[in-house]
Amino acid sequence: MILIDGKKTSEILQAEIAEEVLLIKSRGGKTPHLAAVLVGHDGGSETYVAAKVKACDRVGFKSTLIRFEDNVTEEELLNCIGQLNSDADLDGFIVQLPLPKHISEEKIVAAINPHKDVDGFHPVNVGRMVAGLPAFISATPFGIMELIKRYNIATSGKNCVVIGRSNIVGRPMSILLSQKGIDCTVTLCHSRTKNLKAICAEADIIIAALGMAEFLTGEMVKEGAVVIDVGITRVKSDKTKSGWKLLGDVKFDEVAPKCSYITPVPGGVGPMTIASLLYNTLLSSKNEIYK
Ligand code: GUN
Repeated sequence: MILIDGKKTSEILQAEIAEEVLLIKSRGGKTPHLAAVLVGHDGGSETYVAAKVKACDRVGFKSTLIRFEDNVTEEELLNCIGQLNSDADLDGFIVQLPLPKHISEEKIVAAINPHKDVDGFHPVNVGRMVAGLPAFISATPFGIMELIKRYNIATSGKNCVVIGRSNIVGRPMSILLSQKGIDCTVTLCHSRTKNLKAICAEADIIIAALGMAEFLTGEMVKEGAVVIDVGITRVKSDKTKSGWKLLGDVKFDEVAPKCSYITPVPGGVGPMTIASLLYNTLLSSKNEIYK
């Protein structure tokens, strides 16, 4: 069994980005610039955005953080997005989700210029991905595809089962894995799927992205399967200093011994997401998606 080290792979990808930024700067090019919009004071969002800003510093990007209080109006936020869309120095920006209930996330995401949508959430980027055109791919699917490629995991003709049909992970994963060149035979499973156990037991590759702690058990996985765990559920623990621990969607102790490759939680898919965002920003600064 090979443990897929997302932390190390993310560091390698960030080092590659940093090297390219140095090269761009040495040639007199523009420093890549990412902005993040953060509304309110949600603990999780604060942590994620702080990590994104710190990662920008690490690879030599310029970063801008724009904050609003919880009571910001949709109109104020849309005005801000309009300004960011027309800021020529800015290569990309993200609006950290979730947003307060009185603001439509759909409207906000739709207002972002797809050329600057480095989160890959805009319907234009989603549509381009589905059509097989160059597009910004959202962070988690991009990170998983990168792990699969960098660990030379065989995909052509393999049976791949994706569990969970969310817009940001399961559904895009099902599309990326079935793309020409990757060539998996994909089954997308969800809460209404019948015989899930039997379907999983036939899978060469399983992407567990349903958000239920330790859902995938040993008996659901065949010998030699590749298992990618996207889950992160925080549960109380008396064994950790913080009093909390993170659980994936996979019952690791049962599943890992049967696998050829598996991602741990934490330290698997999670660390890849920030590197993916930086990579999209670099692509944007080089105009590589929308030429
Ligand atoms: N909230 C949780 N994950 C993400 C993400 O990748 N992007 C944004 N904008 N918000 C998030």
